[in-house]
Amino acid sequence: MIQRTFSIIKPDATERNLEGEILSRLQKSGLRVVAMKKIHMSRAQAEGFYHVHKERPFFGSLCDFMCSGPVVCSVLEGEDAIAKYRELMGATNPANAAEGTLRKDFAVSLEANSVHGSDAPETAAFEIGYFFNALEITG
Ligand code: RTP
Ligand code: MG
Repeated sequence: MIQRTFSIIKPDATERNLEGEILSRLQKSGLRVVAMKKIHMSRAQAEGFYHVHKERPFFGSLCDFMCSGPVVCSVLEGEDAIAKYRELMGATNPANAAEGTLRKDFAVSLEANSVHGSDAPETAAFEIGYFFNALEITG
């Protein structure tokens, strides 16, 4: 099934100039970039994006991190895109991430783990709509 998912290249990765390397890996896997922009989120925008985590102890720190520098937001399209991109990313904690995954190779810590990807069709729909309008999505 052709699906769309939402990706963020997080501030720790943009800071180290890793956008191209990360995008290259996901394009090589067959995922297509159908929308993309680089933004610097406000604290309020980060809080809105991660609202599902607002009761979690790491919420404040996570929002501070996500607005600490620019991020690259994109919409990825392909066969089983949600699961495929989660697999490419690897486990949330890089210490547990499999060999060859983005987080294994690039993440700095559990929080500064270089990439975000939607975890389900409902969250993908919310996250794509949070950052992109219909005119900004191609294909
Ligand atoms: P993401 O949403 O960024 O794709 O990551 P995920 O699904 O693998 O992990 P999730 O549980 O949704 O957590 C969101 C982000 O919060 C940070 N985090 N910090 N300090 C902690 O215990 C902790 N746990 C998670 C990470 O940046 C994680 O990606
Ligand atoms: Mg998540």
